[in-house]
Amino acid sequence: MRSLRRCDASAKRLPRQSDGVRGRAGIIEGVMRILSFAALGGAILALAGCRSLPPSKPSSQWTAQEARGAVVFQQNCARCHYATTTSSLHGPGLQALTKQPTMPSGMPPTDERLTVVILHGRTMMPGTPLTDSQLQDLLAYLHTL
Ligand code: HEC
Repeated sequence: MRSLRRCDASAKRLPRQSDGVRGRAGIIEGVMRILSFAALGGAILALAGCRSLPPSKPSSQWTAQEARGAVVFQQNCARCHYATTTSSLHGPGLQALTKQPTMPSGMPPTDERLTVVILHGRTMMPGTPLTDSQLQDLLAYLHTL
């Protein structure tokens, strides 16, 4: 980092005629800077991610209701959402959904909000018609993530 910054300062003092050289050096410097920032950012995100996301409940510890909810999820949601990561598929990954203060939209992940999103959909997400028991099972499952 320090050497990059020094390059940058000296490049700025170069006379006009060396524009070509400066241009190429500038591109390389820029790429290296982006790479080092990306690596640093990635490391920070990985650390923050590991620390901030509480672990999901292992499937071996699911209650009967949570296990039924997992089936409802597989049948109705899994084609658009990952359950074990926050990475997007078609919609946001749902890991730790109910353990965060807000959902991606900024709404709190209460059962009431989730029920509205699930039954009626939201922007690009279609609503999913579920029976009340399917919905309760699914909500129980979402709390394990
Ligand atoms: C056809 C794809 C699709 C299906 C099926 C789908 N979703 Fe989504 N979901 C999305 C998309 C896209 C978004 C992002 C919507 C937005 O906020 O713009 C989303 C957003 C969400 C959110 C975040 C809402 C918020 O307020 O940020 C939750 C929670 C969610 N879905 C749960 C589910 C559950 C549970 C199911 C199964 C019943 C499901 N989704 C089925 C595509 C889908």
